[in-house]
Amino acid sequence: MSIAAGLASDYRLLPELPADVFTAPLRRPARVGEDWVEPAQRAYGADEDRIWDDLFARQMDILPGRAASAFLRGLDKLDLGRGGVPDFGRLSQELDALTGWRVVPVPMLIPDHVFFWHLANRRFPAGNFIRTRETFDYIEEPDVFHDVFGHVPMLTDPTYADYMQEYGRAGWKAMRHNRLKALGALYWYTVEFGLIEEEAGLRAYGAGILSGPAEAVFALEAASPNRIYLNVDRVMRTDYVIDDLQPTYFVIESFRDLYHQTVERDFDRLYRGLGPGFTYANTAVIDIDNVLHRGTLEYHLRGGRGSGAVPV
Ligand SMILES: [Fe+2]
Repeated sequence: MSIAAGLASDYRLLPELPADVFTAPLRRPARVGEDWVEPAQRAYGADEDRIWDDLFARQMDILPGRAASAFLRGLDKLDLGRGGVPDFGRLSQELDALTGWRVVPVPMLIPDHVFFWHLANRRFPAGNFIRTRETFDYIEEPDVFHDVFGHVPMLTDPTYADYMQEYGRAGWKAMRHNRLKALGALYWYTVEFGLIEEEAGLRAYGAGILSGPAEAVFALEAASPNRIYLNVDRVMRTDYVIDDLQPTYFVIESFRDLYHQTVERDFDRLYRGLGPGFTYANTAVIDIDNVLHRGTLEYHLRGGRGSGAVPV
């Protein structure tokens, strides 16, 4: 079967992954079906509920005046601070009533094509486990706090909710052209680490920024990182780091702008013109960039995480 035939555009059907498309090899646990959805959300102990509450309180000290207003409104609408890890069933009902999205519990990592399929059907796959006290400040794999606190409030914004669905649909084409890394960069620089220009100033809407203690201040206030207006073609050619603060952030003017840049992009054409690797380093500022702030890159030049460099 050709790749194109294997990836029909009926987004309700789980796509069959053609053998010549590379994705990370993941072993499916026996308890989950082909949709990788857990039979039930985990039951959390009182200690785990307290971890959620403490993480929530810590973020609420940092985020007012730094998080996008859509995010803060979403937190409010879903009342994610009502105590303990939110129940996905109730959360889904509330979210469904607002934008038609649901939250489904999944193992830590799921295959790309399954992830895209859920997004294309307005289901957000959320990790089931919660970090421990020992990994309170920094975890490498996304947990339920990152996924639910970081991502779900933004899904209450109707335009952003549509963007996420379009992103899931774009995954089909990325697989067809074997360009999942390029589409991954777009997710990274928008959904995880995106900034938005609001009337009151620059704010963060990316879940990677909003769910941790250090990056909101660094992304918005430090002299080190570049802040560049989003250009989808350029971002999809840009490398990214997954284990440190970002050297470069991309800024949108509105969620409508983000939605249109994605929906109107001819991804087939874009993928045909892309090489298999990334063209631009994550520290680079290039000719075509519309630069809001050119960073000193001091933090990264001093060695970044683990070097003792101060994120300034
Ligand atoms: Fe995430």
